[in-house]
Amino acid sequence: MRKVYNFYAGPAVLPREALERAQAELLDFADTGMSVLEISHRSKEYEQVNAEAMDRIRGLLGLGSDYHVLFLQGGASTQFAMLPMNFLPGGRTADYVLTGSWSEKALAEARGIGRTHVAASTRDGGYRRVPGPDEVRLSDSPAYVHITSNNTIYGTQWHRWPEVGSAPLVADMSSDIMSRPIDAARFALIYAGAQKNLGPAGLTVVIVRDDFLRQAREGVPTMLSYRTHAESLSLYNTPPVFAVYLTNLVLEWIEGQGGLRAMEERNRAKAKVVYDALDASDGYYRGHAEPDSRSIMNVTFRLPDEAQEREFVSRAGEEGFVGLKGHRSVGGIRVSLYNAMTLEGASALAEFMGEFARAHG
Ligand SMILES: Cc1ncc(COP(=O)(O)O)c(C=O)c1O
Repeated sequence: MRKVYNFYAGPAVLPREALERAQAELLDFADTGMSVLEISHRSKEYEQVNAEAMDRIRGLLGLGSDYHVLFLQGGASTQFAMLPMNFLPGGRTADYVLTGSWSEKALAEARGIGRTHVAASTRDGGYRRVPGPDEVRLSDSPAYVHITSNNTIYGTQWHRWPEVGSAPLVADMSSDIMSRPIDAARFALIYAGAQKNLGPAGLTVVIVRDDFLRQAREGVPTMLSYRTHAESLSLYNTPPVFAVYLTNLVLEWIEGQGGLRAMEERNRAKAKVVYDALDASDGYYRGHAEPDSRSIMNVTFRLPDEAQEREFVSRAGEEGFVGLKGHRSVGGIRVSLYNAMTLEGASALAEFMGEFARAHG
């Protein structure tokens, strides 16, 4: 098998151990003589997978039973609408902090549903940073405050949460969930598409505090109501069983590695070698993010011109480094370093970057 280092932004690299386990039990899950793909979501074997994955998410984030974990579909993009449908009643305002394209999309959906307020934006200057604590200006008693914890496209990340007082804080954590320890109890609701740090595409994880959930609006269509899924433990209809199963294996792997502290240590070490390569290049690589806002998940940078960027991607591909092309809206290079990427992979890429810069700079 060809050795590759997978730097795709999502779907993305998964822990090899989790994939091997899935492969080993693909045809016979839990001694059923059937694949997990073939058994009822109401079977006791699947119910156990469902419960285990929920407990692991709460356990890793240090949350108690006052948080519901929901396994939904429709991607994080459906959450952009589901959140205001449930939590933005008429007469109230939802606050959004704009730090990139995903937060813009989240805001656009909320605008179609109710009144919104932009509490801060770093759009001027090209989303090179997240706002500082004194830049966030909340409206009067917002229904919630929405942030994007890691901006996958621009390569910026919050390293200190904004102060929101008693307002419910909501975060799209699609691209950095489970990458570092966080004070998860600060959040009323967290959502994430699974396909970066958690598992395969097709699953969206929502974590919602019970007291916030109780404020959810009535009259929301059944499948789009968080309450439906909380009350049925995400078994109201057929869930994406294989995605939940594989996510459970990835969560078990995270636990086995030492939990979120170990993930953070590993992720910081990887990000450091790549940023060091960037900083050591005498300006050949120009990082997009300002140093204080640099993401440890997605490292974004430009080369002197697009022809060299194309050559970089192509030469890297020949060496086995794949998935490095930046998002089409920003261009350049993006190195995604999710949990499952190894330090060995990040170091090998950093070495390639050094050689490429020396040859072209
Ligand atoms: C931060 C963030 N939010 C939302 C999305 C959209 O997720 P989905 O494709 O699951 O709808 C992405 C996808 O890359 C993302 O990175």
